Amino acid sequence: MKFELTEEQIAVRDAARDFAQNVLKPGVIERDDNQTFPTEQIKQLGELGFMGMMVDPKYGGSGMDTISYVLAMEELSKIEAACSVVVSVNNSLVCWGLEKYGTEEQKQKYLVPLAKGKKIGAFCLSEPEAGSDATSQRTTAIDKGDHYVLNGTKNWITNGGSASTYLVIAQTDADKGHRGINAFIVEKGMEGFMVGAKENKMGIRASDTHTLMFQDVKVPKENRIGEDGFGFKFAMTVLEGGRIGIAAQALGIASGAYELAVAYSKERKAFGKEISKHQAIQFKLADMATEIEAARMLCLKSAWLKDQHLPIGEASAKAKLFASTTAMKVTTEAVQVHGGYGFVKEYHVERLMRDAKITQIYEGTSEIQKIVISRAVLS
Ligand code: CAA
Repeated sequence: MKFELTEEQIAVRDAARDFAQNVLKPGVIERDDNQTFPTEQIKQLGELGFMGMMVDPKYGGSGMDTISYVLAMEELSKIEAACSVVVSVNNSLVCWGLEKYGTEEQKQKYLVPLAKGKKIGAFCLSEPEAGSDATSQRTTAIDKGDHYVLNGTKNWITNGGSASTYLVIAQTDADKGHRGINAFIVEKGMEGFMVGAKENKMGIRASDTHTLMFQDVKVPKENRIGEDGFGFKFAMTVLEGGRIGIAAQALGIASGAYELAVAYSKERKAFGKEISKHQAIQFKLADMATEIEAARMLCLKSAWLKDQHLPIGEASAKAKLFASTTAMKVTTEAVQVHGGYGFVKEYHVERLMRDAKITQIYEGTSEIQKIVISRAVLS
């Protein structure tokens, strides 16, 4: 077992770190305040190859491994999780899903611009009554021969407004249950497809999360992903990979808050010395460092398994469960270390604490991860 990164992986991590510090950090508080989507920053990330990191270069991607993706996600998320979620959904859910299961025509038409960062993708599974219970899809896709007709509503869709390409899960044959579900590629601009209200969120405020409405949307049959009835398995498989990205995001939020807490503890004085010299603070920092390191190991292990084409379901659920719990704990403690300043926006830790919460909810709540893990343990 080697715990060393390759030179290439180190270069990717450093490039992401530079980008986060120099490009993301300057406007992050304003974007969070005003809920401003990081349009220019995402464009630059696309030009640098971060939007299709693991996609084969023949489809416009960077051909990197999943370890590099985890390293990049950690660095970007230390500064702006609202930006890194756009990167994660585009890479893990949309590009990976299309590369793994799309036809050659679908890859040429949709994957190439997404992997190059020319377009943004969204993954549309959640509904008002189908969040965790993903088999209960109410959105319908009726087979009309050469096309399907989509009707329904999707909720809490990341990149809902900024995306051009949407992977939409819908029920074609309710009698078949989850085996009657399909996945489709839907383009913005298709008649009857409407982007609804933008959510006013607690965290990751600069990302755009929307309700989407489908009213008699005609989707060509060639836009179905996989065989008839493959949609639920498609969604579950893609989410397994997606959870590595969100675990790495949670890791980054935690390590960003931790780094701020360490720096602050060396500056701030109380009772005649830097607070880092008080054991009460030292113990907090020790716990934070240990939990972050454990979360990083789980993230890298699941990335490594994916790169070896080994099963990742249990490992990615463990990584997401632990890293998101760690993000919540560490950011809360980082605010505590900062005292009153931690409650003030200029010190960044309050934003990281708000951002941490969503990592316990999207791409499967912590409870869903425990279902996945316990099933694996008991099987
Ligand atoms: N890979 C492949 N197939 C899978 C699978 C997987 N990981 N998990 C389940 N399946 C298959 C099963 O084998 C079964 O198929 P067969 O009957 O043919 O054997 C079928 O799917 C149904 O499986 P279950 O009976 O296990 O289904 P379930 O109803 O018990 O649900 C669940 C399982 C794990 C709870 C699942 O519903 C789930 O993961 N829910 C959470 C959904 C989720 O993560 N939503 C987040 C929305 S996306 C998002 O947040 C993106 C964003 O914007 C950031």
